[in-house]
Amino acid sequence: MAVVSPTFDPGAVSRLPDPLPALRDLQEHDRIHWSPRYKAWLVTRYDDVRAGLHDPRMTPGRAMPDPNVFEPGFREVFADYRRLLDPFMLFRDPPDHTRLRGLVNRGFTPSAIEGLRPRVAAFVEELLAAMPKSGTFDFVPAFAYPLPARVIAELIGVPESILEDLKRWSDGFATSTAGTGEDLFRRAAIATSEMGAYLHDFIANRRKNPGQAIIDTLIDARDGQDRLSTDEIAANLILFLVAGHETTTNLLSNGLRTMLRNPAVLEDLRANLDDQALVRNTVDEMLRYDGALFMSMRVALQSFDWHGRSIEAGQRVFLYHLSANRDPRQFEEPDRFDIRRKDASRHIAFGYGIHFCLGAPLARLEVEVALPALLRRYPDLALVDEAVAWKTNFVLRGPTSLMLRA
Ligand code: HEM
Repeated sequence: MAVVSPTFDPGAVSRLPDPLPALRDLQEHDRIHWSPRYKAWLVTRYDDVRAGLHDPRMTPGRAMPDPNVFEPGFREVFADYRRLLDPFMLFRDPPDHTRLRGLVNRGFTPSAIEGLRPRVAAFVEELLAAMPKSGTFDFVPAFAYPLPARVIAELIGVPESILEDLKRWSDGFATSTAGTGEDLFRRAAIATSEMGAYLHDFIANRRKNPGQAIIDTLIDARDGQDRLSTDEIAANLILFLVAGHETTTNLLSNGLRTMLRNPAVLEDLRANLDDQALVRNTVDEMLRYDGALFMSMRVALQSFDWHGRSIEAGQRVFLYHLSANRDPRQFEEPDRFDIRRKDASRHIAFGYGIHFCLGAPLARLEVEVALPALLRRYPDLALVDEAVAWKTNFVLRGPTSLMLRA
């Protein structure tokens, strides 16, 4: 039962250089742990997290506060923001989710994603060419941030001139998961409305002047009489922008950092950069070892018992991918970074079940192209400092900067 400190704080844990010991403490001693501070159940074992991710008694929607908890002046802004996010497929349950995902999937076929490979390779080469050949540089702004931003803009079909705004909107949106204060929601609400307004105009224009990007596939996607509304397209483009952005940035930064902290593994990979199966497995091991997210959220739709704990309808549940992927009950020597691990791909860094990450093939493609190119360009790459500053965010896991020596 609960031997873990009742003051265990997911926010504070997310700022630790290594959050694993604290999460493992929960895993060992209180597998379904109640956090009074966050008013949420924290779930840390692999089996429980995986089961929770596709348990119909919980929903990823409705995880946002009721507008009435805010002061009157902000209630309206917040209600608008909620309305904008409402058609996010991530926040819908079946049958709405099934319908939305079915229509949106048409833009994410394996051939559509594979077709982006040459563009991704070109973006990687451009970014590398602009980076210093020697000396020190910050990997996050130089590479890990701009690569996914450019790829997602290309995929969606928005012009590169919008990338600066995109960063501002995306950062603003992400603040909603940096804590629970009203100011954070205010920033997220304002950024999301701006993004929504831009995309509504963009979609209207695109209906008149179609192109060949995913946005055009979404505009045309039909199932019998059914098709996506402008609100649904705009909301799900916002979802791609925010879901496909900082996550991939974090994966590139966390993955490269882990690689550079494991010289024998790095040497093995450097000697086998043409082995595509090994590169693919390396990306999986990066996702398993230190993926881009701490956790996914759910809200209980009904009351139920879970391993002796009483989950009540309306309570929040935090499902920790990070600790699930290092659960010793699932992975042998889970803290060893091993790019030749046979079962690396059993990680659940992309989620599990009906909400399994739609962008997983795209995120994989980006890292599979970027990693060998980076290592080829920099034969002596090293970390400047072991310690890094982590984002203050209890959902997204990644460094704010990563200083490297070429
Ligand atoms: C390393 C990169 C990424 C990671 C670790 C990641 C992780 C995840 C996870 C864990 C979920 C499930 C959330 C839940 O069940 O609550 C998810 C869903 C989703 N992701 Fe990703 N993601 C990444 C990149 C991307 C990219 C590049 C896109 C681009 C379009 C994307 C789009 C989505 C969408 C649309 C969903 C919702 C799917 C649904 O509800 O059916 N993600 N992602």
